[in-house]
Amino acid sequence: MKFLSRRLVMPADLNSRGTLFGGRLLAWIDEEASVYAAVESGAELVATKYISEMDFQAPAMLGDVVEIGMEITNTTRVSITLRCSVRELRSKRDIVRIDRMVFVAIDDNGRPTRLPCGPGLSQSDSP
Ligand SMILES: CC(C)(COP(=O)(O)OP(=O)(O)OC[C@H]1O[C@@H](n2cnc3c(N)ncnc32)[C@H](O)[C@@H]1OP(=O)(O)O)[C@@H](O)C(=O)NCCC(=O)NCCS
Repeated sequence: MKFLSRRLVMPADLNSRGTLFGGRLLAWIDEEASVYAAVESGAELVATKYISEMDFQAPAMLGDVVEIGMEITNTTRVSITLRCSVRELRSKRDIVRIDRMVFVAIDDNGRPTRLPCGPGLSQSDSP
């Protein structure tokens, strides 16, 4: 799993309980995952198709730095499936896990289009 993105939990990111708001964390994950899926597959545009349940394991607090990890678990003709794990940078405390996020490569008209790298082949694996 690659942990490429880090976010500092700021006051504007908190819920009414004073911990990181789950919706904010989902927005960060969706953004990071869509960039990761596009870069690894070589797709110009991707759409979020499916996100499995989020398993929140511990709250993130003000001042925590959360790092977002991604791993490709499957590709098809037009889709990339990722697994995601979020943890606190210093303590490595697990914050949330998402087993399956599916992104579909789309054309300018929003229709599914073939992945440039093809199923099972990431850009970083290309010669
Ligand atoms: C993404 C979108 C273009 C896909 O179009 P579609 O006609 O539904 O596409 P399909 O049903 O053919 O599925 C496309 C691929 O996704 C895969 N897929 C679809 N649902 C899936 C699921 N629940 N789990 C795993 N893979 C899934 C399919 O296997 C298919 O890949 P394949 O043809 O290579 O086997 C369309 O559903 C859409 O526009 N959805 C809204 C996207 C959106 O607004 N997202 C939020 C903002 S980015």
